[in-house]
Amino acid sequence: MRPFHVALIGLGTVGTGVAKLLVEHADRNARRAGRSIVLKHVIVRDAQRRRGVALVNGLLHSDVAHAIEDPEVDAIVEVMGGTDLARRHLLAALNAGKDVVTANKALLCVHGDEIFAAAKRNGRTVCFEAAVAGGVPVIAGVGQSLSGNQITGIEAILNGTSNYILTQMSATGSAFDDVVKEAQALGYAEADPTMDIDGTDAAQKLAILVRIAFGTKVQPADFVRQGIDTLEASDLAYAAELGYAVKLLARAKLTGGKLELHVQPTLVRRDRPLAQVDGARNMIAVDGDAVGTVWWSGPGAGQMATASAVVADVIDLAVGRAQRTFPQLDLWGDGAPVPLLPIENIRRRSYFRFNVEDRPHVVADIADVLGRHEISLASIIQHEAPDLGEADDPPQEMHPIVPLVVMTHRATEGQVRAAEAEFARLSALRGPWVRMPVAD
Ligand SMILES: NC(=O)c1ccc[n+]([C@@H]2O[C@H](COP(=O)([O-])OP(=O)(O)OC[C@H]3O[C@@H](n4cnc5c(N)ncnc54)[C@H](OP(=O)(O)O)[C@@H]3O)[C@@H](O)[C@H]2O)c1
Repeated sequence: MRPFHVALIGLGTVGTGVAKLLVEHADRNARRAGRSIVLKHVIVRDAQRRRGVALVNGLLHSDVAHAIEDPEVDAIVEVMGGTDLARRHLLAALNAGKDVVTANKALLCVHGDEIFAAAKRNGRTVCFEAAVAGGVPVIAGVGQSLSGNQITGIEAILNGTSNYILTQMSATGSAFDDVVKEAQALGYAEADPTMDIDGTDAAQKLAILVRIAFGTKVQPADFVRQGIDTLEASDLAYAAELGYAVKLLARAKLTGGKLELHVQPTLVRRDRPLAQVDGARNMIAVDGDAVGTVWWSGPGAGQMATASAVVADVIDLAVGRAQRTFPQLDLWGDGAPVPLLPIENIRRRSYFRFNVEDRPHVVADIADVLGRHEISLASIIQHEAPDLGEADDPPQEMHPIVPLVVMTHRATEGQVRAAEAEFARLSALRGPWVRMPVAD
């Protein structure tokens, strides 16, 4: 059989890993694909720079159009990132009759409809295993291996950077900013980690998983998204005291024909597998009506882990399997939209950490506000204030400020928001409070 020819756009972190696997393991790939897989073009911005992989002369250049128009090329692998140029290159590739592989979740989130429509129109295939959870094969898992199920729920840790930060804050008690700096020095966080810590990256990945699992189109703007940057190490310590770990949890749950969606730092019971995923790893728990709960866990990013997923897609194309399953499974289908459960109706338990004046009636005032909104208290933690020496009955202006942690029973988001509007008027509360949901 003739070799399968690939053009790679991007030779950065992921691209270098892909090139290494294709060049250094050509025999292994050929055995698995039943034909050799040949890297024909590698496109970068700066073709003069030294690279971390040995490539034969002439392979590296900056002419994308030349690679896309090469009649010998079967598939274009896009690992350059960004949304505008990447979109143009993938559309050009599909229109030129090439199949495509991409690791670009932001691109799929913003321009997925247009790209999949172009693939359909041209009878081509789009593979995107690496776009969600890096090396963890969750796209194939949900899209193919669980195709005998109706998926009813997904709970996932989809951002390794934020999970690393939460793990370190919990283990060392260090402040958020210090752990972010350490994560940047170790290469676990980007120079600008905003999209990781504000939940955007996890929300984009959840939107892709929801499209595949439930066949419905959602955008990150459609659901509650809260980052980890307002948390303090004390929140993780209080959560541990209560028997929980804090995880940036992405959740999609089908209840009564409606889909509940959110990405938020969440208290997860310590004995659950999701609570035990530490460091930069990802975990995805998927509920199917036939299979029950299935967990996938592993490296959600990184050079070789992400390349592993990209190369699996390339091999699938070289075998010819992806071209058969892609149109049939209609992974990016436009089925009847599943209505979203209105945010106000989402029902959960809540964790609050307030900073309060250590004086009489404060707990009663908070309980009174919650009670008026039919929210009952489950537990309270307030540790003793530091010793004030002589002033054991201090005047009002000397009341120390202490943290007060409150766990509630289940209530709707609407009830909780209404209570929060009243908390803002309580004079004993100082500064903003932290609220997190509890995953039951
Ligand atoms: N890094 C991960 O662990 C990871 C995990 C999962 C998914 N992803 C996704 O994979 C994609 C790539 O990420 P990365 O971390 O590998 O990025 P990266 O290290 O920044 O590499 C980007 C590569 O694309 C090339 N490039 C950028 N703009 C170009 C242009 N206009 N024309 C030609 N080449 C261009 C760059 O060329 P130069 O080298 O000449 O600058 C570089 O080689 C992104 O979509 C990302 O979201 C990454």
